[in-house]
Amino acid sequence: MTERLDLQGRHIVLGLTGGIACYKSAELLRLLVKAGATVQVVMTAAAEQFITPVTMQALSNRNVYSSQWDAREPNAMAHINLSREADAVLIAPASADFIAKLAQGRADELLSLLCLARPAETCPLLLAPAMNREMWAHPATQRNVAQVVADGARILGPGTGDQACGEVGDGRMLEPAELLEDVIAFFQPKSLAGKRLLFTAGPTFESIDPVRGITNHSSGKMGFALARAAAEAGADVTLIAGPVHLPTPRGVKRFNVQSAQQMFDAVVPQATQYDAFVATAAVADWRPASLSEHKIKKEGKKVAPTFELTENPDILAAVAALPQPPYCVGFAAESENLLEHARAKLQRKRVPMIVGNLGPATFGSDDNSLLLVDAQGHRALPEDGSRVDKLTLARALVREIAQRLSSQTA
Ligand code: CTP
Repeated sequence: MTERLDLQGRHIVLGLTGGIACYKSAELLRLLVKAGATVQVVMTAAAEQFITPVTMQALSNRNVYSSQWDAREPNAMAHINLSREADAVLIAPASADFIAKLAQGRADELLSLLCLARPAETCPLLLAPAMNREMWAHPATQRNVAQVVADGARILGPGTGDQACGEVGDGRMLEPAELLEDVIAFFQPKSLAGKRLLFTAGPTFESIDPVRGITNHSSGKMGFALARAAAEAGADVTLIAGPVHLPTPRGVKRFNVQSAQQMFDAVVPQATQYDAFVATAAVADWRPASLSEHKIKKEGKKVAPTFELTENPDILAAVAALPQPPYCVGFAAESENLLEHARAKLQRKRVPMIVGNLGPATFGSDDNSLLLVDAQGHRALPEDGSRVDKLTLARALVREIAQRLSSQTA
């Protein structure tokens, strides 16, 4: 599998202003470069008190700029040259003072000058605030933040939690990995803007007794990748997750459940509030007919216990049968005859789209290939039938779903 380079071809100006979170900017720079971006670092004098330009130069493999009087630029216009080639300016950390300067349109050093001089249409401004919680909550800061947002800037975070000063609250800079995810999402096409999508993901766990149960090998990776891709595309996303150890994608509302019945209860009553329902969960078809209150003991038993099973409700079929159902997408995990089984499921569950994949080849894996089946026909994703990483697949599937949703409303 080839590595995904989400920021390939993007050129980003990374601006650092004065704050202890500057120590995280070195890691952020590494992540941006690893994701394929070229990064030009610009630092204020205050930022240089926290981290050296040499560190940022070495990591970006470019000279760092910090003065508008920099003689290295032949035309002596670093503020113009640097912003003309950038796809975005990302200020991380953005201090309270720097946001105040932006709000007023001041330009007395290179970074603020560059922000003011950038072509706003083609070079968006992203700000990752970092400051003490009282500074963040101060009406002056909130007023300035509202002003820069009204002027077109995008605010990433801030996060909440422990602060360098020892206090706890809102104002810390997002972690580098979170900022990377937000920057990647920012560049994705907003094909699902204004839409609400509901996903199920992962296995279910059907208890036998308080310590044992029936489950399966679903890792939840495809469902989580789809939820992330939908959020990147601008959708309001809710994810109902079975027991998996995966981080929640940025901006996604997640609810954890264990059993098929709990998943059913979390999905079906609210399903009509969504534009689409995508069922990626590997829901257990059966559960033990009765739950033992205490651990079933081996002690003293000569024969192995037997369990009666009872059928679980079919969540996807129940949603598809609602009076005004969302656009329903089901998954079919098969071990053979993919197209035939996927087509049968399309009819049996009465859903407009089934996405087929080979179960043994996908469970737990980071890559996959899909077969998209609907009333019009079927086609492979990716088209050459090769295996690609699940986020790339998820973005392709999200594009397909977005097209169908927009042709429904058109
Ligand atoms: N599904 C569901 N609720 C269930 C069972 C399945 O919502 N109780 C959904 C899955 O999330 C998936 C689709 O239905 O989107 C197909 O799941 P699958 O287990 O492949 O289908 P089954 O109906 O169980 O068919 P079979 O076991 O015969 O392959």
